[in-house]
Amino acid sequence: MADCSVLPESLLRRLEKADDGLNSLEVAGALGVDHQLVVGAVKSLQSLGEVIQAEQRSSKHWELTEEGKEVVDNGSHEARVFTAVPLEGLLQSELMKLPSGKVGFSKAMSNKWIRLDKNAEGGPRIYRAVDSITDSVREKLHLLRDGKEDAMDDKEKNELKKRKLLAEVNIKTYWITRGSAFTTSVTKQETDLTPEMIASGSWRDKNFKAYNFDALGVIPECGHLHPLMKVRTQFRQIFLEMGFTEMPTNNFIESSFWNFDSLFQPQQHPARDQHDTFFLEDPAEATNFPMDYLARVKKVHSEGGYGSQGYKYDWKIKEAKKNILRTHTTAVSSRMLYQLAQQGNFTPVKYFSIDRVFRNETLDATHLAEFHQIEGVVADYGLTLGDLMGVLHQFFTKLGITKLRFKPAYNPYTEPSMEVFSYHEGLKKWVEVGNSGIFRPEMLLPMGLPEGVSVIAWGLSLERPTMIKYGINNIRELVGHKVNLQMVYDSPICRLDS
Ligand code: PHE
Repeated sequence: MADCSVLPESLLRRLEKADDGLNSLEVAGALGVDHQLVVGAVKSLQSLGEVIQAEQRSSKHWELTEEGKEVVDNGSHEARVFTAVPLEGLLQSELMKLPSGKVGFSKAMSNKWIRLDKNAEGGPRIYRAVDSITDSVREKLHLLRDGKEDAMDDKEKNELKKRKLLAEVNIKTYWITRGSAFTTSVTKQETDLTPEMIASGSWRDKNFKAYNFDALGVIPECGHLHPLMKVRTQFRQIFLEMGFTEMPTNNFIESSFWNFDSLFQPQQHPARDQHDTFFLEDPAEATNFPMDYLARVKKVHSEGGYGSQGYKYDWKIKEAKKNILRTHTTAVSSRMLYQLAQQGNFTPVKYFSIDRVFRNETLDATHLAEFHQIEGVVADYGLTLGDLMGVLHQFFTKLGITKLRFKPAYNPYTEPSMEVFSYHEGLKKWVEVGNSGIFRPEMLLPMGLPEGVSVIAWGLSLERPTMIKYGINNIRELVGHKVNLQMVYDSPICRLDS
């Protein structure tokens, strides 16, 4: 095959000799290259101005089918059958098992290349009828592949078309003639104006390629944010607009103490079971607890206090020390509220976080053993349930969700607790969008927060709104090793319809 970079020049040299012009398809045949490459050469010559003229035509043209190409490579079916028959003959039943057996047999028979002995011992047997053959089907297809359409007459072509070795196709070709500025020596057009050309003045004699304003730019290689991260950015933005500060959530491993005990969650609570929580083997236990605070937590669980009767059970530090993968980001809220209490002079705060949590759950289309929680916390004197509902309305309105309903619920660390529902216009029903509540005094007072300070909080998952937003039905298409990276590349930035 000819070198493609010299194709425009070969074309010009042929054109120099062809007074009437050239057909691009014939050129391709003569040069033994794909027609599309010649079309490319025509286009690049056209861009030089008046060197050539090219007129588009549509012409009928014979092309080899996949099977036809196969014949060129390996011989016709009948030739393959002939070569498969040894001098001592072959059982017809064996011959029929060959890939080209059926077609090859009848063609080779009508060519009288082979003969059939129906009464042979062991069953009908095939013998060669001639010493050698000429595979003209292959030869003709070979010539046609090289662009020599006149190698066959129409009858022959139609014969091979019937055998599905040839097909007649309509293609766009060019009729190429010399232009007013015809030349056989084209200088490559410059695509860049370099500092050297300016310094030496050589740009004056150069021929510059015109801008192609229709060309699409090269898509720059770049990183892509995962849809979850795109939606996280939007939620973060909402919190920041509302004056919230982000909490440090950079520890997936947490002690049971901060994840459960500090939140007034009793040690025999089912959530603390192996079935719901991942426990760490190494290191199995956490150290470094604020011991005076830990003593107050132990007391409120086992004996009560701050107006509560507690759970009245034998609270064990062993249980509190157990390391786990945090099951909710409320563990971080708890650490932050404790720190706030240590500050001495209480100041109101608004905190948020969006990060990963882990639960030993049964996996299904919408649940994995890890997901992201979005959490908001507000601490101030005298906050009420009305404040919580107001903040939730404000928060969800920014998400484009205005119809909210609240349903009483239970969390060990909040009282009252409310599940949050919103009306889904698409599904035409109320769907759960979050969980919320007012942290219990049994949680806040042992930390040392002043009486009269109340803390309202809520949480929701990041995966759920992301799946809805990006129309993903199976969580495995969003997270994990089955994720199609093209989905990540193609997902647009997230705009929440507020
Ligand atoms: N931690 C709760 C959960 O995991 C969410 C929540 C946060 C509820 C804050 C109330 C207050 O579902």
